[in-house]
Amino acid sequence: MLNVSRYLLVASLFCIAAGFNACTQQKQDIAKTSDESPNTFSVKGSVHEIFINHDEPEFPEAEGKDIFTGNCMTCHTLRYISSQPNFPRKTWEAEVNKMISKYHAPIDSMTGVKIVDYLVKVKGVK
Ligand code: HEC
Repeated sequence: MLNVSRYLLVASLFCIAAGFNACTQQKQDIAKTSDESPNTFSVKGSVHEIFINHDEPEFPEAEGKDIFTGNCMTCHTLRYISSQPNFPRKTWEAEVNKMISKYHAPIDSMTGVKIVDYLVKVKGVK
């Protein structure tokens, strides 16, 4: 009886070790592919390969850009903004206010004004 349980213990330790090894091997494969291209991740050696492209739109350099990107991409991609047509200040103000009041974006009113200024500069119409 003692011998059987010792055998089971050794066998399960072997399984755990084998499983752990498989895990670390897969991690290395992921790291290898992401080295090749920093924007593409895939898992090699599986039946399916999954590519996830990290593809944020570029916004023009102008005063307030960092404040805009720092506050407006915490919940969603900046594509939500780049895919909009150019808007007048009134519309950008309403949009930023909607993010704050309806979706609880943690943006104070001074920061909100700077973001609106930036948006009017790069995606505004008279
Ligand atoms: C707290 C989370 C949050 C933050 C921060 C945030 N948004 Fe949003 N935003 C949302 C949600 C939620 C939606 C609606 C998503 C949907 O309908 O699929 C949205 C949608 C949008 C849209 C699409 C049009 C619309 O009104 O639904 C625009 C444009 C937009 N956001 C702009 C901004 C800008 C500019 C900022 C920075 C001031 C910002 N967002 C920050 C949550 C956020």
